[in-house]
Amino acid sequence: MQIYYVNGSFKHKFNALISVEDRGFNFSDGVYEVIGFKNKKLLNFKKHMKRLKSSLLNLRIKSPYKNFKSLELIIFRLIEINKLDSGFIYLQITRGNAKRDHLFPPDVTPNVVIFAFPKKKLSNLSSGVKVGLSEDIRWTRCDVKSISLLPNLLEKQKAYENGCFEIWQMRNNFITEGSTSNAFIIDKSGNVLTHPKNNLILGGVTRDTLIELAKKNKVRVCEEPFSINDIKKCKEAFLTSTTVGVIPVTQVNDIKINSKKIGEITTFLTEKYENFLNLQIK
Ligand code: PDD
Repeated sequence: MQIYYVNGSFKHKFNALISVEDRGFNFSDGVYEVIGFKNKKLLNFKKHMKRLKSSLLNLRIKSPYKNFKSLELIIFRLIEINKLDSGFIYLQITRGNAKRDHLFPPDVTPNVVIFAFPKKKLSNLSSGVKVGLSEDIRWTRCDVKSISLLPNLLEKQKAYENGCFEIWQMRNNFITEGSTSNAFIIDKSGNVLTHPKNNLILGGVTRDTLIELAKKNKVRVCEEPFSINDIKKCKEAFLTSTTVGVIPVTQVNDIKINSKKIGEITTFLTEKYENFLNLQIK
């Protein structure tokens, strides 16, 4: 992956440059999306664009695109130029360049950067991962997919250093979400539990898709927060994100889930999710 898209041009990465006055660089004043693609086809594109539009609106950044058709064409071109077949698109839009001042600059033009990256080679996630727990130290607008990710990075790093794949963050003893993914458990009655979509979590595209598929397949979903106590009693657990899909969680701190065996409902939902993605690449 050598060619990046920057503000209207495709540039080799050494020439793909952004100003030091970019407000994303100075203030994290921007939003992003990570979108999967397979067989050169974009996955769940409409959902990603809906969330991007909402993030831009919430931060009062002018959308550089009237509709997202032109953006889609740019992304296809980027995939083509880089001779890629499958992977992920990183798309970042910041408020633009201006002399450093906290107030929004008038008439500023947003900066757009897009690049593609391949799937990380991670060993055997599908056999289940261990997740740690920590306090949720983020702001209360986690629904905005802001490029300001420091709390997430700090927690994810801690998790990694403690032998965990991910960290589940908690507010008032209830799990909100992971540092880079959404969190789910399945209770003894087979109900899928996950935090409701509000300002305390990022409404994941994978999360929303999975919930739709679960409901379609008669799996009950309760969008309500769950606690450590609920984890202790649960039958299965998993996490979701665009980059990893659906990954079984077999241990949370020292709580072993289902004797670390992957549960039936997780397997069922993973299959449904993968089939749904495959339908989009035909
Ligand atoms: N992160 N919650 C958080 C805090 C996230 O950062 C992500 C994704 C998700 C899952 O959202 P989705 O299903 O739309 O990918 C939930 C991306 C992949 C990232 O920052 O790389």
